[in-house]
Amino acid sequence: MARAKIALIGSGQIGGTLALLAGLKELGDIVLFDIADGVPQGKALDIAEAAPVLGFDSAISGASSYEAIAGADVVIVTAGVPRKPGMSRDDLLGINLGVMEQVGAGIRTHAPDAFVICITNPLDAMVWALQKFSGLSPKKVVGMAGVLDSARFRHFIADEFKVSVEDVTAFVLGGHGDTMVPLTRYSTVAGIPLTDLVKMGWLTEARLEEIVQRTRDGGAEIVNLLKTGSAFYAPAASAIAMAESYLRDKKRVLPAAAQLDGQYGVSGRYIGVPIVIGAEGVERIIEIELDAREQAMLDKSISAVEGLVEACVKIVPALG
Ligand code: APR
Repeated sequence: MARAKIALIGSGQIGGTLALLAGLKELGDIVLFDIADGVPQGKALDIAEAAPVLGFDSAISGASSYEAIAGADVVIVTAGVPRKPGMSRDDLLGINLGVMEQVGAGIRTHAPDAFVICITNPLDAMVWALQKFSGLSPKKVVGMAGVLDSARFRHFIADEFKVSVEDVTAFVLGGHGDTMVPLTRYSTVAGIPLTDLVKMGWLTEARLEEIVQRTRDGGAEIVNLLKTGSAFYAPAASAIAMAESYLRDKKRVLPAAAQLDGQYGVSGRYIGVPIVIGAEGVERIIEIELDAREQAMLDKSISAVEGLVEACVKIVPALG
């Protein structure tokens, strides 16, 4: 059987890491794309030269033209610019919306059957715009945020209790960023909810709230340390888990930004929710019952995303 083809739009920090991980996991052949000529070609060659040592077979190439993504099974989008000092939120939105328009057109023309994973920030608005610009089914266009946010939460919890990360599960809802909603009663250590661990005296309510807040601020913590960029290893690993679930039809239950159709009272917008990812793309959206406090947090998150979407429509009225 022919290998799957994975196209990476954006070959920066996350794009390069995605290529290495996709190779290591032998997910398929890889095309790195970027507007910065030479960068995708250079990274592709560097990783191809690592393959004999690491022992994986994938054809890895770099490209500056969208024809190279033709027939891709999975497209992962990291193209865009980060927010720089002096740039307003709307400046950033305007630039990255323009990038999504180009990327959406490239996907529509050359890879209309792909499963598309968007990583570019501000995530919930960018994935919404990318789905519109590409014209692909919402079942085939998702945003990566929840796997990363829950991975951060899992790391902090595992570190707190000195237990394996493998035995910690985490459940997060909502938009990416400071309004995300980590659900402590659905986050567990070997199936024991964190709320029960508070009752069992493993940690205090206040300490749990600190960990939740650190999770919400997880992206900023890395930016403050790196000073010249944002996180890339964990974001790349998270998107690879989503791509793998699609390509291998694993049907994993993963939190991701998906277009809602009435769930959680939202329609036509992308919000982070637990979904099943399999060969059909988004095969199921899981809607759970929330208590009043959780619903209030989610409503805040939904209105933050709505604010971003409205700002996008002001910039590109055709999206409305
Ligand atoms: N088409 C293709 N690539 C583009 C375009 C475009 N129109 N505009 C910019 N790029 C490329 C840049 O040349 C750069 O190589 O996107 C790449 C982005 O890489 P980095 O700046 O290294 O950013 P990275 O850390 O990979 O993060 C990418 O993910 O987490 C989000 O906020 C982050 O939006 C950012 C994105």
